[in-house]
Amino acid sequence: MARNPAVLEVTSVHRKFGGLQALSDVSFAVEQQEVVGLIGPNGAGKSTLFEVISGNIPPSSGAIAFHGDDVTRMAAFRRRRSGLCRTFQKIRLFGALTVAQNVAVAAQQCVVDGNWRDEVASALAKLRLTAQADRYPSEITLPDRKKVEIARAIVGRCRVLMLDECLSGLTRDEADEVVQEILGLNRQGLTIIVVEHVMPVVMAMAQRLVVLQHGCVIADGPPKEVAANPVVIEAYLGARHRPAP
Ligand SMILES: Nc1ncnc2c1ncn2[C@@H]1O[C@H](COP(=O)(O)OP(=O)(O)OP(=O)(O)O)[C@@H](O)[C@H]1O
Ligand SMILES: [Mg+2]
Repeated sequence: MARNPAVLEVTSVHRKFGGLQALSDVSFAVEQQEVVGLIGPNGAGKSTLFEVISGNIPPSSGAIAFHGDDVTRMAAFRRRRSGLCRTFQKIRLFGALTVAQNVAVAAQQCVVDGNWRDEVASALAKLRLTAQADRYPSEITLPDRKKVEIARAIVGRCRVLMLDECLSGLTRDEADEVVQEILGLNRQGLTIIVVEHVMPVVMAMAQRLVVLQHGCVIADGPPKEVAANPVVIEAYLGARHRPAP
């Protein structure tokens, strides 16, 4: 079967921090409108990979292609403007600003064509946050604060969305609520890479799993296959998730 063209292609990426090899020969491709789960133990290199893909840190070697263009040396703000978007592992909302103002801060940095106010309204509507626009982060629920993080990430042009443990701290019901919004964005055309430790949640979202361990890709395939892979179970899943016999 013919594969769709890759929207994002990571080729042989290495990244060292001093003597620590955080990423080692990482290669994988993501197709248009895929939802890919990026999993692995603490310290495996998941956030470092997002840092390298988004351009916040350069790889020691290797290449990143976005829609076929080599962006390895492109500045982070340019990648963001061209639609390569991400959330951060730690929530970064401004407590003294309203929901709409929080999204506006992001919009002012990345909306170059079009009206940033319209883009803010559109991002809030996509996350069903319009009614919360004038509230402060302390006045809304934790799932809604997560949605504001996502609205900040997608405002303006977004083609690929990388979510770094954006469901952490939520109960299962709350996580499901946010997952529905994420899957809604995917149905509207967004390609999504999600880092998530809660296996039932990532299994429910992802069409494919990429597993990192010690900076290396140890598995890449359909979630059920990957979850049954003895190497992955040994490295990561063990106590977290065992497939039914
Ligand atoms: N800026 C940095 N300077 C030095 N070492 C770093 C830096 N960022 C990450 N590391 C190290 O690189 C390795 C990979 O870290 P990373 O944060 O990418 O892991 P992770 O898979 O996101 O883990 P977690 O699931 O805990 O978030 C770790 O050993 C970490 O200590
Ligand atoms: Mg991390």
